[in-house]
Amino acid sequence: MTELRRPAPLDTGRHKRDQFDSGESVLDQWLRRYAGQSRRRDTAATWVVADADDVVVAYASVAMTGIDRSAAPATLAKGSPDPVPALLIGRLAADRRHAGLGIGTALASHVLASAVDINEKAACRAVVVTALNPTARTWWIRLGFQPLDQADPDQLDLYLLTSAIKATLKAL
Ligand SMILES: CC(C)(COP(=O)(O)OP(=O)(O)OC[C@H]1O[C@@H](n2cnc3c(N)ncnc32)[C@H](O)[C@@H]1OP(=O)(O)O)[C@@H](O)C(=O)NCCC(=O)NCCS
Repeated sequence: MTELRRPAPLDTGRHKRDQFDSGESVLDQWLRRYAGQSRRRDTAATWVVADADDVVVAYASVAMTGIDRSAAPATLAKGSPDPVPALLIGRLAADRRHAGLGIGTALASHVLASAVDINEKAACRAVVVTALNPTARTWWIRLGFQPLDQADPDQLDLYLLTSAIKATLKAL
């Protein structure tokens, strides 16, 4: 198996993104065209897993966000300010040539561990993600995410309480 490096911040001068192929071209294009400028503008931080030749095999983009308290379930809204402080996983994708090897899970775990750190420094009640489609939704739910609107089990907007992350990481 290819040797992979630990998740690291995207270095546009070093990491090779041209051949990245997650099977979702919108996500591939975003990595190529917008990840660098989003970092420079401080609107999204991109973390990558690369191989020994610095070829990106997975990436995740993260940013701070706020959840509308009136649309949040009681577990999230109770005692929270409006908006509820949260960390957004904007995008997460693994190259399909490396699918099913646990790379996506490892990168998601890294982001969740970052949320625990951020929570200590600045407070972040939950991690949120909008699943790309129902298949991706199943993948996130496997990691402990739940729908923001519990009355709509098919909803793609998901959250995980920061206080639940340690148990989630232990169970993986
Ligand atoms: C979703 C994605 C990131 C998964 O990456 P990956 O590295 O292949 O996933 P992993 O190998 O970490 O998956 C580990 C587990 O999830 C399961 N799994 C993989 N794809 C799954 C899916 N689509 N639905 C449900 N479970 C899935 C695997 O069977 C494995 O379970 P196991 O440990 O019990 O055997 C990747 O398929 C991808 O980039 N898809 C396109 C973009 C996308 O949908 N991203 C989500 C953004 S919202």
